[in-house]
Formats: sequence, C-alpha cells, structure tokens
Amino acid sequence: MIDEKAVAAAQERYGRLLRQQLERVESLKTEGDWTDFSKLDRLVIGVCGGDGIGPYICASAQRVMEFLLADMIRSGKAEVRVIDGLTIERRAEVMKAIPDDTLEELKKCHVILKGPTTTPKKGDRWPNIESANVAMRKQLDLFANVRPVSVPELGISWTFFRENTEGSYALGSDGINVSDDLAMDFCVATTQGTERIIRAGFEFARKSGQNYVSLVTKANIIKTTDGKFLSIAEKVAKEYPEVRWDDWFIDIMTAKLIDPARRSDFRVFVLPNLYGDIITDEAAQIQGGVGTAGSANLGKRYAMFEAIHGSAPRMVDEGRAKYADPCSMIKAVSLMLSHIGEAEKARRLDMALDVCVQFEKRLVMTGRPNGATGDEFAGYVMETVQRPDLEEAWKGYVEAARAASR
Ligand code: IPM
Ligand code: MG
Repeated sequence: MIDEKAVAAAQERYGRLLRQQLERVESLKTEGDWTDFSKLDRLVIGVCGGDGIGPYICASAQRVMEFLLADMIRSGKAEVRVIDGLTIERRAEVMKAIPDDTLEELKKCHVILKGPTTTPKKGDRWPNIESANVAMRKQLDLFANVRPVSVPELGISWTFFRENTEGSYALGSDGINVSDDLAMDFCVATTQGTERIIRAGFEFARKSGQNYVSLVTKANIIKTTDGKFLSIAEKVAKEYPEVRWDDWFIDIMTAKLIDPARRSDFRVFVLPNLYGDIITDEAAQIQGGVGTAGSANLGKRYAMFEAIHGSAPRMVDEGRAKYADPCSMIKAVSLMLSHIGEAEKARRLDMALDVCVQFEKRLVMTGRPNGATGDEFAGYVMETVQRPDLEEAWKGYVEAARAASR
C-alpha cells in the first residue's frame, strides 16, 4: 500500500526546495562582476582558525602571510582581522553552520584565510548541523573551488576547477526521508551556476597559456544534471577556440590520474562539486598527501582560502596538534596572494614550499614529536622564501628529480 500522506508531505517539501532554487537562479542572473583588487584602498583579510588542528596550522600560515605582506600591512593597504566563532563548540551552541555574528564579520572582509572546521555526521558527539565549509561557500557564493596540484619531477601540473555551490552539495542537508524505507537526495545544476564555473576554467586555461581543459562528469548515467554540465561546456568552449578540450567520465579519470603514461598531459579540469571533492583528494595524495594541498574558494565578491582536509580532532585529543602540517594552509596563502594580484610573491612561496616539502627536506613533518612542529616548519618556509638563490635552487632540484625518475 502506498502511503499517500507521505507522498504528499514529500511533495510539499520538494516544492519548497524547487522554489528556493528558482529564487537562487534569479539572484544569479543579477550577480556583479569580479572584485578588482587593484582598485581597493584597503584590503581586509579575515583570518579564522576553525577548530581541531585548525587554529594551530592557521596561525602558522598567518605568520607566513603577514611576513610576505608586511609592506602592505605597514602602509595600511592591507588589514588582517582575526575572526572567532567558527569553532564546533560555538556552532553547536547556536545550532548553526556559521553563527550570525561570525557571518556578519566575514562579510566585512574581502578575502578570508580559514582553518579546517569539524563537519559533523550522524552519530557523532556533535549535533548533525550543516558543514561550516559548505555553508560559507553557499552564503558567500564562492562558486569556484580551485585546487592546484603540482609534482614537478613527474611533469604534473594540474588545476582543478570544482563547482562549489551546486551539484550534490546544494541540498546535501535537505534530502527527504519520504518514508521509513525511502530516502531521496537531490542534485542541482543551474544554467547560470554551470556556465560560470566552466567559463572560469576556460578563462584560466587561456590566461595561463595552458590551453587545455578536461571536463569530467558521469553524463552517461546522471543524464540530467551532468548532461547539462556537458552541454553547457560544449557551448562555452566555442568562445575559446584556442583552448583544446575533451570530456571524460569520473570513473576512468580516477584511473587516468594514476596512469604514468597519461597523467602528465592533463592541465585544467572542470567538474561538478562531488566529483571535484573526491578526485582532488586523490590528486593531492599523488603530490604527497592532503596535508600538502590548498584550496581557493572564489566568488565574484568574496574569496576564501583553506586546506583541502579536515580538522583532525584526533591529533588534538592525542596532544599532537602542534605537530600538524601547516603546508596546506601555507599553500592556501599562496593562492590568496595570486588572487589579490601578488603573483610574484605567490610564485616564490610555491617554489619555497616545493624546496622544503619535496626536495631539501631539512625539516620533516611527521605529525608526531619525532618531526618538526608546524611553527618550526613555517619558519623554515619563510627562511627559504628569502633565499637569494631560491629560483636556481628550485630549478636544480626539479631537473635532478626529473633525471632520476627517467
Ligand atoms: C573539502 C572537504 C569538505 C567538502 C568537507 C570538509 C565539508 O572535504 O573541502 O574537500 O566535502 O567539500
Ligand atoms: Mg574533500
């Protein structure tokens, strides 16, 4: 017997979700253009530590950032504001993904450096509230999650453009338990939301001179939303005749990333939210682990920079927080520097990270007392950034590693 009451109740909830999303589409139609950082009198940088290992690795990254932006901070061109309130304790207390006052403070910044935040799931000791990351991406409309992965000696230089506000995440906390036996989640793709992420990927491919985009979906199975993603890509690609592009299914792409014969060909990837989430962990692992990868969450108005991993509460419980690797957050600083127009500083910081993490390894992070502390490592990176011979040293290491891997 079909429970018609349950069907009607689910329909009613579904109707509400549809209306919300249609309203969202209307606001997407009127969104403004990208912030021009060169025109700002004063750039406001918010720093929020998050929880777990977040405050530790974020503080180390903040030191590196303040060191590299010292001139701008001294002259008042940049202001760093520490924003509290994103801890799981506080979020659980007010039962909100982001407490209202914290969100208000965040909205007064142009860019945000954010430490990892605990994302509860059913059965945890915390109430099952929405993820702070996901909420921030949605509320500040940070639609492009840009995640670079580079392993110079393997010829790998990838940039992932993960859609960040739609797909399976848009209504991830709004699925419907129609009955005790039937649960339904939803996947969202809008024309506007899809077009802007695909355009961001193609634009980057063109500007960076890489001129190659791989679009990743599962459009053979998820025909409606992924199908839309693919057909919009076909349309947008026509505006970029100099950019070569191809389309892949997520399953085979997962394999290709570990195929030594093929993987160094790829350059820029554009993909829906959930596939982007999954495959960027795989890609980061090839680079040395999720602790080495940073992530830029870009919107036209705001931008937020973070690690790609979680808050590792176990490290805190075991008293190892100060040994957590801050490199993902330092990488996030480099992404912030590029975004605000400090490309040369970003390039030097990237080279220094390669030297410290992959090549010279004078200090090593192990996550335990037999390794360096995050703060010591941040100091090592800052010393390396200042090396007058940084560029030559970096090039030398890359050549030697390439020769060795041949
Ligand atoms: C990421 C993380 C987040 C996500 C979690 C922590 C909510 O895995 O940034 O990739 O799923 O997007
Ligand atoms: Mg992830």
